[in-house]
Amino acid sequence: MKPSIVLYRPIPDEQRRRLAQHFSVTEFNAITAENRDDVLKAMVTAEGLIGMGGKIDKHFLDHSPKLRAVSTVSVGYDSFDVEEMTRRGILMMHTPTVLTETVADTMMALMLASARRIVELAEWIKAGQWKGDIGEQQYSHDVHHKTIGIVGMGRIGMALAQRAHFGFNMPVLYMSRRPHEEAENRFNARRCDLDTLMAEADFVCITLPHTPETEHLISRDQLAKMKSSGILINAGRGAVVDEAALIEALENKTILAAGLDVFETEPLPVSSPLLAMPNVVAVPHVGSATHETRYNMAVCAVDNLIAALNGTVKENCVNSVLLKD
Ligand code: DGY
Repeated sequence: MKPSIVLYRPIPDEQRRRLAQHFSVTEFNAITAENRDDVLKAMVTAEGLIGMGGKIDKHFLDHSPKLRAVSTVSVGYDSFDVEEMTRRGILMMHTPTVLTETVADTMMALMLASARRIVELAEWIKAGQWKGDIGEQQYSHDVHHKTIGIVGMGRIGMALAQRAHFGFNMPVLYMSRRPHEEAENRFNARRCDLDTLMAEADFVCITLPHTPETEHLISRDQLAKMKSSGILINAGRGAVVDEAALIEALENKTILAAGLDVFETEPLPVSSPLLAMPNVVAVPHVGSATHETRYNMAVCAVDNLIAALNGTVKENCVNSVLLKD
């Protein structure tokens, strides 16, 4: 008999068929407050779980007695209680490599759009405001040759540094727990502490995941260290930045602008002051959301679940401590 799994996210048909070749699949579109009880019923027999988001906490795991592996169609796994899963011997799989370049592209797009006021000026022209020569009112700020400060020099940080250094001639600062020899050699990147990065960077770019250590790392005090011409870019997780403090900084013009892909609450409430600010470019957590990359993420997540349940995992395991011996 094929092992049972629960799929809780739409994936391409051929990937759904691959799952069905290996497993008996119960399918949901998402885990919501409305269907959580039905999902939990299906979890009674499920050995695998594949999807993205939801709140996979102790309560959920208590209702998943046979669960052996979880595969998220994302690099981030902050909605999963990995510590509890590890205690129970459940493998946590994710898709760390396939989205790197696309998220770095998104960050570059946010930098360009916010510095060059692309969204604001596109709205301006659509509103019929272009009636003569443009003047200083429509000027924006250069990106090339400005200093980029990358908070978190992981894969995405590296891909961003590559674009900034080679494409835009930008000096690169970075903050990370350990020195990154390759970043220093290839991009002439300079490691510094957060205080220095916040004070010296023209673009502060957050790539960090949300953990207890990173929550509100970019605090009111840190934002106060930024240049008044500084631009904050966040494509890591919303909770890394104190959003109320960011709103204040933007309102008080102690920083110039922000380009945001992630927010403390998602979907971002339409009442958020961020949405009323011309100097904010906000997009709905689309960092990896291209047709190509989302397809590759689905393939990777399916591969990951098959490997995890077959006992052939070689990569992409968050709690790889479970694989040793
Ligand atoms: C991830 O994979 O964690 C991204 O945030 C989704 O775009």
